[in-house]
Amino acid sequence: MPVLEILPKVYSVGVVDWNVRNFHGHTYTTKRGTTYNAYLIIDEKVALVDTVLGSFSDELIENIKQVIPLEKIDYLIANHVETDHSGAIPAVMKLCPKAKVIGTEKCKEGLYRYYYGNWDFQIVKSGDKIKLGKRTLVFLETPMVHWPDSMFTYCPEEELLMPNDAFGQHLATSERFADQVDQCALWDEAAKYYANILWPLGTVIIKKIEEVQKMKIPIKIIAPSHGVIWRKDPLQIVSKYAGWAKNDTIPKVVVVYESMWGATEKMARKIVEGINSTGLSVKLFDITTSDRTEVIKEMLEAKGFIFGCSTHNNGMLPTMAGFLDFVKGLKPKNRIAASFGSYGWAGGAIKQIEDIIQETGIQAFASNISVQYMPDQSELQRCVDFGREFARRING
Ligand code: FEO
Repeated sequence: MPVLEILPKVYSVGVVDWNVRNFHGHTYTTKRGTTYNAYLIIDEKVALVDTVLGSFSDELIENIKQVIPLEKIDYLIANHVETDHSGAIPAVMKLCPKAKVIGTEKCKEGLYRYYYGNWDFQIVKSGDKIKLGKRTLVFLETPMVHWPDSMFTYCPEEELLMPNDAFGQHLATSERFADQVDQCALWDEAAKYYANILWPLGTVIIKKIEEVQKMKIPIKIIAPSHGVIWRKDPLQIVSKYAGWAKNDTIPKVVVVYESMWGATEKMARKIVEGINSTGLSVKLFDITTSDRTEVIKEMLEAKGFIFGCSTHNNGMLPTMAGFLDFVKGLKPKNRIAASFGSYGWAGGAIKQIEDIIQETGIQAFASNISVQYMPDQSELQRCVDFGREFARRING
């Protein structure tokens, strides 16, 4: 990523990871790649806010060198311990050993456990400030948005918020600003990011947004650590987060299934037919061939979920079981869910799905639908009716 002066003497010095397709291990597919953003602020004192994934350390260092020799860095602000932002800290600190690392107490603990570096570390709390010269950096602890160590850095003179992972998108682009990129891709990636990473943290996110709103700090630019920078109407992404965090929904159903010999698939298609006949928006996914990250994004605003699975060994098939385990961890609220599936001689999959719906705290639909072996015409019609009834419940 070419170095870009995003504000006078504030430089974007991060890197683009065009080719990454799996993130967080294999928990998140990044079909559009990502960026690891870092910001260099030049004043009487020099601050580097965040670094990049360790394998891109050299590129980050070359970018910084285009602006200033590394030994001039006074402060390395570590907003977050996770290695996609802290991975280059050891390499950078070798070249500016006198710099002070700034972060929360949990950040200090986490960085030590990752890198065992003997760095001068200053712990900061919410409201603590560092004067750079004309500019100030103010810190806001944001525990569990999205790790215990997480923190936002704010520069009041520039009205610049650097919230690390919050408000990011996994989107590799040559452009640096949100208003320069394809808006469909931008919002698709912003929603996917929230759904797959931040969805379980809605309560904390609402509180943190309210806390920032009460502070009445002007925000002209939001510069996250992934993707593009929000400079035109930057609060639009904050409003979106507020809605997602409140689990706001739209009348829409997502049907996800796994089928062993095609019976559950036939049922799924008829259920979708029933939903469709009411005019309600619906999407159908075979979880064995779908990208889970995309399915979760589709679920983010959907009011209704329907999960189907054939019974195997008295329980669910493994891909569906893994998917629902992931869904459970996201703790979606304010939803209605139903289950369906085929079985041979003894059921079990539906019971497991219903247990997960209950454990997740999703409201269960009044009924489910199961079929032995292959559905006949009347059972297929029951599936259509089931879909129609579920749609009425969602619309109701
Ligand atoms: Fe982008 Fe929590 O790391």
